[in-house]
Amino acid sequence: MLNDQLRRVLQQMPKAELHIHIEGSLEPELIFALAERNGVKLAYGSVEELRAAYAFTDLQSFLDIYYAGASVLLQEQDFYDMTAAYLKRAEEDNVRHTEIFFDPQTHTARGVDIKVVIDGIYRACQDSPVSATLILCFLRHLSEEDAIATLEAALPYRDKFIGVGLDSSEVGNPPEKFANVFARCHALGLHLVAHAGEEGPPAYIYTALDTLKVERIDHGVRCLEDKALTERLAREKMALTVCPLSNIKLCVFDKMEQHNILELLDAGIVATVNSDDPAYFGGYMNDNFIATFEALPLGLSHAQTLARNGFSAAFLPAEKKQQYLDEVDAFFAKI
Ligand code: HPA
Ligand code: ZN
Repeated sequence: MLNDQLRRVLQQMPKAELHIHIEGSLEPELIFALAERNGVKLAYGSVEELRAAYAFTDLQSFLDIYYAGASVLLQEQDFYDMTAAYLKRAEEDNVRHTEIFFDPQTHTARGVDIKVVIDGIYRACQDSPVSATLILCFLRHLSEEDAIATLEAALPYRDKFIGVGLDSSEVGNPPEKFANVFARCHALGLHLVAHAGEEGPPAYIYTALDTLKVERIDHGVRCLEDKALTERLAREKMALTVCPLSNIKLCVFDKMEQHNILELLDAGIVATVNSDDPAYFGGYMNDNFIATFEALPLGLSHAQTLARNGFSAAFLPAEKKQQYLDEVDAFFAKI
């Protein structure tokens, strides 16, 4: 059980969020409001009916509904409103810095201009007191040619995103499928991340590291199946952006008591806590921390480590990073 002091610490400590898909922050109420505003017909009759469909058995069962939800996003203001709503929730959870994933192909495939997507999300970031940067994700169920075309279309807005990632259906779409586009992004000086080892095997984590040359692994929880890999991730301080509630909702672990985040920390891995798709998985940052600490024997020192890890693994200038780390340490010194 979580005592009141630890709960308050988890709520109030300064945080960085490094794994949030902005389309996964679309709450059912906003989906319906945007559907009405844009005259989009949904396959669900009400907010309740939509929410009732959020019973996932694996990643793909979630992605099917997630892409349907994103179909209401058409105008620049829609992307702004979605992002502003997320940033407001993040601020309430004492998130100081966030690196937001977005999936341009989900929108360009429906005829939405990539400029509309990037401008709307970016403008909301500019208007928020939370420090927020953007990471463009390629959909791995699509071809590498499609990813390259997406990168080309995004390059006029290169100053508005700091990196690229790889998401969507993992199994059968290994990182090496995107070797060329990631090499190009590396040459462009973009930060590189990829989802690997969520449902996919440790082999996908190896190729994300060695072929794509990523700087963080998104999820990565299956690394513990490979001792040499676990030791390497710890040695290289390769951060994992772990998403506890997501892992339960998508049945990566049966229940939170079985989540391996404590084993990851004990192995010396720079694990972080993140919300992934908070509107679909039952919670934002604080909900993720609280659910994890309620189920596992984690205490104050783990809270401090996890808060520090978030900022350590962020793509921030060294000075800014140190300021946030000092803020975390000052917070814990006062407890
Ligand atoms: N995994 C892969 N793709 C995704 C996810 C995820 O957890 N969330 C949104 N797209
Ligand atoms: Zn994700």
